[in-house]
Amino acid sequence: MTSRISAQLRDRIMSADAAARLITAGSTVGLSGFTGSGYPKAVPLALAARIEAEHALGNAFQIRVWTGASTGPELDGALAKANGIEFRLPYNSDPIAREKINRGEMDYFDMHLSQVAPMAWQGFLGPLDTAVVEVSGIRADGSLIPSSSIGNNKTWLDRADQIILEVNRWQNPALEGMHDIYYGTALPPHRVPIPLVRPDDRIGEAYFRVDPAKIVAIVETDAPDRNLPFAAPDAAAHAIAGHLIEFYRHEVARGRLPATLLPLQSGVGNIANAVLTGLVAGPFEDMTSYTEVIQDGMLDLLDSGKLRMASATAFSLSPEAAARLNANMRTYRDRMILRPQEISNHPELIRRLGCLAMNGLIEADIYGNVNSTHIMGSRIQNGIGGSGDFARNAYVSIFMTPSTAKGGAISAIVPQASHVDHISQDVQVLVTEQGLADLRGLSPKQRAEVIIENCAHPDYRPALNDYYRRARAGSYGQQTPMLPGEALSWHQRYIDTGTMRM
Ligand code: COA
Repeated sequence: MTSRISAQLRDRIMSADAAARLITAGSTVGLSGFTGSGYPKAVPLALAARIEAEHALGNAFQIRVWTGASTGPELDGALAKANGIEFRLPYNSDPIAREKINRGEMDYFDMHLSQVAPMAWQGFLGPLDTAVVEVSGIRADGSLIPSSSIGNNKTWLDRADQIILEVNRWQNPALEGMHDIYYGTALPPHRVPIPLVRPDDRIGEAYFRVDPAKIVAIVETDAPDRNLPFAAPDAAAHAIAGHLIEFYRHEVARGRLPATLLPLQSGVGNIANAVLTGLVAGPFEDMTSYTEVIQDGMLDLLDSGKLRMASATAFSLSPEAAARLNANMRTYRDRMILRPQEISNHPELIRRLGCLAMNGLIEADIYGNVNSTHIMGSRIQNGIGGSGDFARNAYVSIFMTPSTAKGGAISAIVPQASHVDHISQDVQVLVTEQGLADLRGLSPKQRAEVIIENCAHPDYRPALNDYYRRARAGSYGQQTPMLPGEALSWHQRYIDTGTMRM
């Protein structure tokens, strides 16, 4: 194991408990981790135990947590359970942390993932006391071999006053060489164009640079990433994939997309995964992907030969797919690139490459405003993640969802979204299992008609049409007809009148 750690730094190897003692109450800690991959797995657990012990003695002990995106139960779950997180950014999907946030016991800054590193450099987020970063090795020259996600690690390593490294033997040594760490970002007025013009361009280095004097602890681990299984695609997911493939086929036939499509961006979750898997059977060849996470469907596409390469910042794989990746890492390595999230999600690059953005949602209104984050307007589910980075800057911005939630009891298409993450101008195509609404070039009223007709579930179409008709008659203005009080209480109204299926 120590062979993964350069001889000069072996004197800093210690236990996770000893490393956790170097983190002080009230400090800000930047941790690695993105969608359950490459997060530290021992130090956060040891820190959570220490925090619980301090609380038992009546001592206050919380920290501020910055990461790449979501992590795993050993990090967010354990620290949240210990009541150890005072403030969290930029994305969370851990159920315990979610509950604390929604009870008002944890502050959460939900932000665009591309903006975390620049904002940290600008100084708005305050100083970074400690970085805790998982790597897969430390080279003789002191540089670090990244792990299965990059996220904000470059920024944490550069900005932190002290660094704790976890060297994880579980990570495949053949990961070495897959990464591309770009060191050319700067703040204005020193910003220059980022020299990436194709998804397969390598513009940086395979390793993290680090100041060895800042490394205060090295902890050895042998622990798997949090790989969760994907649900097998259901009929709705298949139908959504089918509508989308038909749309792409149509756009190619009309000469609006090349036959290879444009670089695919695929959001998180089961639907997005099902769409990728659906593309395996589709007619498109030699595709590329410029995205945030590599899910199972992306491996399927690579295996099929239809996807030439994939660029991302992290893996988000099921246990089966993680085993497949690890068994064939050398072959995959040449066709995958992991980059810092400020590059994988960079607006300049997404716009230049012309990504086809495909993201999930919680609800969309009849005008195409999308809520990706909040249930009933106030309860956060996960966060905006990278969806805003991609939706605003994509060549075509697509949102997809089953037309109902909670077993059909709630319509995903509503008169007015209870919270808006993506304004209607950033939502060009909406897809449900019912059909696809191409909203490009349509006025709000035209959008409403096509969304209700093509995307809403038939059980809810009459109620939506009824609302829309009354809004056309009684709205203050007729650009975007609305009945303000009623729109927001729409679910309740239809529950009360028994129109909504329960
Ligand atoms: N009203 C009430 N609850 C709703 C709802 C609605 N309209 N739509 C979904 N929900 C609930 C579901 O029932 C589920 O609840 P449960 O956990 O209690 O079962 C929960 O919200 C999640 O829904 P699910 O259908 O499992 O979500 P998903 O896996 O398809 O993900 C998002 C959908 C929007 C939550 C997810 O895509 C997301 O977090 N997006 C934002 C970040 C993002 O897009 N990242 C990728 C960019 S690169």
